[in-house]
Amino acid sequence: MKKSNLENFSLRKPVVLIGMMGAGKSSVGRALAEILGVPFCDADHEIIAVSNCSIAQIFADYGEEEFRRIERQVIARLLKTGTGILSVGGGAFMNTETRARIMESALSVWLKVDREILLARVLRHGERPLLKEGDPREKMMRLLDEREPVYAEANLVVDCDDRPVAQTARRVAEAIQAAPESQTR
Ligand code: S3P
Repeated sequence: MKKSNLENFSLRKPVVLIGMMGAGKSSVGRALAEILGVPFCDADHEIIAVSNCSIAQIFADYGEEEFRRIERQVIARLLKTGTGILSVGGGAFMNTETRARIMESALSVWLKVDREILLARVLRHGERPLLKEGDPREKMMRLLDEREPVYAEANLVVDCDDRPVAQTARRVAEAIQAAPESQTR
C-alpha cells in the first residue's frame, strides 16, 4: 500500500471539523493539528472566551437564539483569520449562513459516528444544554434525523465510530491529503 507523507503536506485552506455532539471534534481536531503541524482552534472555546461565560450559562441566561448569533459571528471571524484546524459545535453547520461560509472558504470534514455510540458518549458527559429537557435519546435521534443529511454536504466524510482518537486523526489527515480540494494544480 502507498505510504502517505503527511509531514510534508501543507493545507491549502482551513479545515473545519463538523459533526454531532460526542463525535470527538475537539480531541480529533487537536490530534489532527499536531499531525499536520498547524494551529488548532475550537469555536466553542472561543465563544466562551468572548462572552466570558460557559455555553450552558449562555443557553440558560440568554437562550439558544443568542448562542447561535454569537456562534455565527465567532465562526465568521475564525474563518477569516485561521488556516489551521477549526472544530465547531454540532449545530453550527445547520445555520445556512455559517454553512455557506464554511463551504466557501474551508475544507469541511464530517466526523461520522454511529448514533448509539454518540448517545452513550453524551449521556456519560451530561453537560449539554440541548439535552437538558425531555428524553435525551429522543432529542438526539430527532436532531440526528435533521442534521445528518446536512452534515452529508461536507466535502469529506470520515467514519470514526469507536476508533482511538490518534487513529481517527490519521484517517482524517489522509482523507484531507487525498481530497481533490487539496491538490495543487
Ligand atoms: C451544540 C453542540 C455543542 C455546543 C452547544 C450546541 C449543538 O458543541 O456548541 O451545546 O447544537 O449540537 P459540541 O458539538 O462540541 O458538543
